[in-house]
Amino acid sequence: MGENGTFWLPEGASTLSPELDSLFYFVYWISVIIFVAVTVAIIIFAIKYRRRHEYDVPPIVHESRILEAAWIVVPTILVMIVFTWGFKSFLKLYTPPPNSYEIRVTAKQWLWEFTYPNGAKSTGDLHVPVDRPVKLIMTSDDVLHSFFVPAFRVKQDIIPNRYSSVWFEATRQGEFHILCTEYCGTQHSGMLGKVVVESAQDFETFLQADISLLLPEERGAILYDQQNCAACHSLDGSRRVGPSFQGLFGKENAYTDGSTGTADENYILESIINPMAKVVEGYPPGMPTIYSGLDREELDALVAFIKEQQ
Ligand code: CUA
Repeated sequence: MGENGTFWLPEGASTLSPELDSLFYFVYWISVIIFVAVTVAIIIFAIKYRRRHEYDVPPIVHESRILEAAWIVVPTILVMIVFTWGFKSFLKLYTPPPNSYEIRVTAKQWLWEFTYPNGAKSTGDLHVPVDRPVKLIMTSDDVLHSFFVPAFRVKQDIIPNRYSSVWFEATRQGEFHILCTEYCGTQHSGMLGKVVVESAQDFETFLQADISLLLPEERGAILYDQQNCAACHSLDGSRRVGPSFQGLFGKENAYTDGSTGTADENYILESIINPMAKVVEGYPPGMPTIYSGLDREELDALVAFIKEQQ
């Protein structure tokens, strides 16, 4: 889980981390240099200018304009560098790219729930595609929580009855910790999760696998798009290569073999897996037989979807 970081920071895995890390290390090294310089100067001066006799009177020292100007100008420049750098990074951190992929996050005592654009859901594990900006739109079901992914260098409070958001673009595949960083009750410390960063292809597989959580007709609507059923079957009654799905269920049809029948579930199922069995009068027997390869749940979903098109 990205444990190869430094003493101060975990390994970075988002597009923002190099920039934020360099700012951190800039402030860090400046502080180290100033700390060492001041400490060494104190020690040297304490020894060199220590009181040697009881009646020692130090010489009168006049101020040095150059020295005074230096300790005003140098820190001012350093602080302005940190401000400009930090402000630029801040703007980037809070401005998601317009093409961001949006995922909804619900925080509740004491778990993370994620909802993807196609309706798929996951709990605990947030799946995201690599090399693509992702915007999280987050809210809470109960109390204050805070979403923190150290490897991405993002952290954002989550507030009930309000949306807050955060964005990142993961640069590496792998798994990274999600922590809750707002005390939210007895199990706060156990409110953990992980971001699973995967290739675009694996991410797509994850999204489709989770379709099983949808209602059959909702899943059928997705299959209708994926299988490109629309090329031959409209949903609005208009004529294409094959009959429209609108009003199809329950309809009395005449078939090219001279028989007639009512379009019920069995007829629709048969027409998907064995399209030549009953071809509706007036349409060419042009439907490919490839759909017999769909699995049981997909077929159920399509039948349910077609049944809904009234
Ligand atoms: Cu949720 Cu702490």
